[in-house]
Amino acid sequence: MHSLYARLNNFSAFLSSCLMGLLAAIALSSFLFTAEPKGELTLASVKVFPGSSRRMPTVKQEFTFVNFNISADLTPLFHWNTKQLFVYLQAEYVDSKGVQNDVVLWDSIIRRKQDAVLNIAGRNKYVFRDLSRSFRNAQAANYTLRYNLMPYVGVLTYGEAGRTSEPVPFPEPETVS
Ligand SMILES: *[C@@H]1O[C@H](CO)[C@@H](O)[C@H](O)[C@H]1NC(C)=O
Ligand SMILES: *[C@@H]1O[C@H](CO)[C@@H](O)[C@H](O)[C@H]1NC(C)=O
Repeated sequence: MHSLYARLNNFSAFLSSCLMGLLAAIALSSFLFTAEPKGELTLASVKVFPGSSRRMPTVKQEFTFVNFNISADLTPLFHWNTKQLFVYLQAEYVDSKGVQNDVVLWDSIIRRKQDAVLNIAGRNKYVFRDLSRSFRNAQAANYTLRYNLMPYVGVLTYGEAGRTSEPVPFPEPETVS
């Protein structure tokens, strides 16, 4: 009786260490597939408008509107351990106070390989404003297309699939009558 129990116990310990080994192997194998897809990110227009927010109507601040084009083939990132991709467009710039800012302007979740070829003409989905309320004297911004790969097993990996070829200055605010 005792020996049967001990044998079962050993066997299940053996099975669970097999499972751990398998999961570790899957997680490690993801590092072998370091696909680095390259896409293109171009800006169609960048415009700055003066305005105010609904919450603080008396406080003037500037808003930037970015129209962009993305063409990227992210299918190489889909392998057996890819659960989904989080893709986002980020503006990276140093503002008038010398603070480095990374602002997410647009994002998307891709769950299937057949949806991973992107041809998008879009505009920022999230409000783009600066903490100092103005983009005057901010340095030119780099715009990047980045992704997080969420695997079934293992750790999140980060990558960059494209960036504007050179920093893009913020224009003078448009005058609104
Ligand atoms: C961006 O895409 C739009 C619509 O497809 C096109 O009219 C425009 O020329 C493109 N602009 C750039 C900079 O690629
Ligand atoms: C923008 O990109 C250029 C060249 O790639 C780099 O030298 C610069 O530091 C970047 N600026 C920011 C704010 O990340």
